[in-house]
Amino acid sequence: SKEEANPEPLRWQGRGTTRNLREIVLGRCYSYLAEGHAELRDKDCLKIWESLKAAFVHKNPCNATTEDYRPLMELTSHPVPCNESLFWSRTYDLVHLYSKCNHHFLTLEDTFLGYMLDGLSWCGDPSAPGINYESCPKWSECERSSGSVFWKMASKMFAEAACGVVHVMLNGSIEAGAFRTSSVFGSVEIFNLNPDKVSEIRIWLMNDIGGPQSDSCSGYSIKKLRNILEERNFKITCEDNYRPVQLLQCVHNPDHPDCNLCI
Ligand code: APR
Repeated sequence: SKEEANPEPLRWQGRGTTRNLREIVLGRCYSYLAEGHAELRDKDCLKIWESLKAAFVHKNPCNATTEDYRPLMELTSHPVPCNESLFWSRTYDLVHLYSKCNHHFLTLEDTFLGYMLDGLSWCGDPSAPGINYESCPKWSECERSSGSVFWKMASKMFAEAACGVVHVMLNGSIEAGAFRTSSVFGSVEIFNLNPDKVSEIRIWLMNDIGGPQSDSCSGYSIKKLRNILEERNFKITCEDNYRPVQLLQCVHNPDHPDCNLCI
């Protein structure tokens, strides 16, 4: 009988490059532009795809640098209006549900660059064909993985651009605390907000409906965040379960007492 060849063992622990990455990025690029954002009129989707490709194809996926991604960042940058930046940590679904219905708020994933690459995976391989579709390094696998270098750089630029009142949506049902210094928000974004441009930081601390209230505005982790931000001369406020956002959570939990509209 014919001996079956063993499949190559997976080299990395993370998900491989998204199939049809080129088509997905181009499709998202054209559809974002078609929404008619006037400030993006002269953006060139093919050029944008080429610059993403040049950043990682044929490269070692654990040796990504900010220089690799600089051209991509330059081709896709656009201003974010003051008072509209919305940061988040551990609230991915809720924050994007909210920013989709309230157009006065913009998360990184609602900006041109974030929109194109949200949820996608990509990494290079020094040997042919230059792209690894089987596996990519997880963020924890190496310090400079393509994903972490890219998202940290995009987050840094998003934070640098923020002005006026900025908001952040945190998750009070996380046992380890709503604010974690190891998160992208806690390690990159708060240190790249500019105190000369940002007048106030408003925290929305959301608990899962009926879920554990592990943390609150008066809890230890928010105190730590407050200390870091006050040290940097920011004005900071915190609101537990900001009602307009809670009402969105209530769409999925209409019968829960916290969702009673008559109180
Ligand atoms: N491995 C893979 N992906 C990660 C990792 C990791 N170790 N850490 C973070 N991410 C990516 C994932 O895509 C995840 O959905 O970042 C996303 C957010 O992670 P969270 O821990 O929920 O939050 P945080 O690290 O604070 O990042 C969110 O950064 O993306 C920007 O502006 C955005 O304010 C937001 C913040």
